[in-house]
Amino acid sequence: MAYENILVETRGQVGLITLNRPKALNALNAALMQEMTVALDAFEADDNIGCMIITGSEKAFAAGADIKEMQPKTYMDVYKEDFITRDWERAARCRKPVIAAVAGYALGGGCELAMMCDFIIAADTAKFGQPEINLGTIPGAGGTQRLTRFVGKSKAMEMCLTARMMDADEAERSGLVSRVVPAAELLNEAIKAAEKICSLSRPIVMIAKESVNRAYETTLTEGVRFERRVFHSTFGTEDQKEGMSAFAEKRKADFKHR
Ligand code: HXC
Repeated sequence: MAYENILVETRGQVGLITLNRPKALNALNAALMQEMTVALDAFEADDNIGCMIITGSEKAFAAGADIKEMQPKTYMDVYKEDFITRDWERAARCRKPVIAAVAGYALGGGCELAMMCDFIIAADTAKFGQPEINLGTIPGAGGTQRLTRFVGKSKAMEMCLTARMMDADEAERSGLVSRVVPAAELLNEAIKAAEKICSLSRPIVMIAKESVNRAYETTLTEGVRFERRVFHSTFGTEDQKEGMSAFAEKRKADFKHR
């Protein structure tokens, strides 16, 4: 597929998607989201890829869903097409890890897209917000739900009710991002994290991801039970044998399933 709104490349085993609508600050229109779904599908299916990164530009990760595209839609339009189910949640459904590397604005749907990724590395220029209230609407791609889980009720409520943006430091303090790096280092740092993930056992990485995600979907008792069962299952893999043998033999593990 020829992509017009994103750039898609591979760096070794890392699949890199760069949002690329600079004139609209990477506003997420239907075409872009459809292209991202195609790219993520392809990376998921590609055995050579172990981790994906979604990033934007220096000025904007994404300034939200495309307001000009949404503006003429009626209630019947959005209800009938179940706007935004199709394409939008693809990043959240990936089984391989997806890292968001965020510089500049991550607003509305942009913030929601970043939160669908497994973790967010932020440039010191990053600004997160859910400003939909200014437009007479509310977040529609999980913002009220995921942001609240990340930063708690008080901050999520203030951001959704007043459209206040959070800078990178506050986002790190609040648990929205895993860490903040200088803007010039953002992509390098994200690639380093992705390469580390790619050097590990892919099935174990996927199991770890599934287990952490369970924490958001179930009770503590059920989550801990799920974790224990999948922890047991890792003992059935060659890579667990290799990992523990390598430690005992004081050598670097050479995982078979990467
Ligand atoms: C469409 C957008 C856009 C958006 C910016 N642009 N954000 N177009 N949708 N979300 C366009 C502008 O219209 C402008 O185009 C160009 O990008 C540059 O933007 P400026 O406003 O001139 O830049 P600046 O003054 O630097 O201000 C940056 C900004 C501002 C603070 C990020 O652009 C802004 O407030 N954008 C909207 C943010 C927002 O409300 N996001 C939530 C969207 S609703 P022209 O052609 O004039 O040069 C949402 C709902 C999700 O995301 C629900 C689930 C799908």
